[in-house]
Amino acid sequence: MTRLIIDTDPGIDDAIALFAALASPEFDVTGLTTVFGNVTVETATRNALALLDIAGRGDIPVARGAAAPLAMDYLGAIPHIHGEDGLGDGGEPATPSRSALDVSAAEFLCRAAPGATILAIGPLTNLALALRLRPDLDTEVEHVVVMGGNALGPGNATPAAEANMMNDPEAADVVFGARWPVTMVGLDVTHQVVLPGAGIDAVTAADTPTARLLGRAIPLYRAFLEKVSGLAGIYLHDPSAVAYLLDPSLFRTERWPVRVETQGISRGKTWPSIGGTDDAAPAAWQGRPSVNVCVGVDAPGVLDLLTARL
Ligand code: BDR
Ligand code: CA
Repeated sequence: MTRLIIDTDPGIDDAIALFAALASPEFDVTGLTTVFGNVTVETATRNALALLDIAGRGDIPVARGAAAPLAMDYLGAIPHIHGEDGLGDGGEPATPSRSALDVSAAEFLCRAAPGATILAIGPLTNLALALRLRPDLDTEVEHVVVMGGNALGPGNATPAAEANMMNDPEAADVVFGARWPVTMVGLDVTHQVVLPGAGIDAVTAADTPTARLLGRAIPLYRAFLEKVSGLAGIYLHDPSAVAYLLDPSLFRTERWPVRVETQGISRGKTWPSIGGTDDAAPAAWQGRPSVNVCVGVDAPGVLDLLTARL
């Protein structure tokens, strides 16, 4: 069984990912850490606590994390995609039954992440802060699976950058350059994992608290994607990272060192050195560890897996 800590900014697809992970016996979810991103860290923390209540997992601790990126101001919430409440504005925001821990997310990661896998589905600020507190943490964590980035194709926050990278490029560059094994589940694959209307109906039909929450949360996200890109369904960005952990054989990967652009109009763009590693790589990539970058996906397989769990 994989001991899992989920670093998250809920967020509608974060909620789907969380419920899929909690429904998977392969995981022992031992903590959630929250971060600004889709919403402020205050809202992300409230949502993380409320989602755990809804899933009947009020036993899982939540540590509140960073309110802003390492080197810039927070770019702000995206209520047109995730709602003012971060969960699709489908009803009263749930009131959590308890509070977050009185340690920060970075402190919690330092204490709890050795021996565990971190599923990072928001901006990577908490992970970078944890490394500052405990520089050897990257030799102690089992695996870091990141939803974020775009190795080969365009971004979604800007033409260059994916949203989680754009929200803290400096932190992302630290995380991809650290010694822990990192898998990047980016837009190269998640833009292929589209849950169609019938699939949405299937995961929201059950008379359970989690299905009812998803039934209230998904319509706003679905309407946004239909309006801006004519998509018939919703991207399962964060849930695809859960699927990677459940069944990596559904993904095709390449091992490349990855840098994250921190300057100019391409800020937040993830650049793999596809020409080679170490001595064969350009100087800015030399000495960087190889990241396991997802470049292909069996999308129907991922949809079947996630739908079954949900
Ligand atoms: C990522 O950005 C957020 O808006 C989503 O929750 C996901 O983590 C997709 O680019
Ligand atoms: Ca997210």
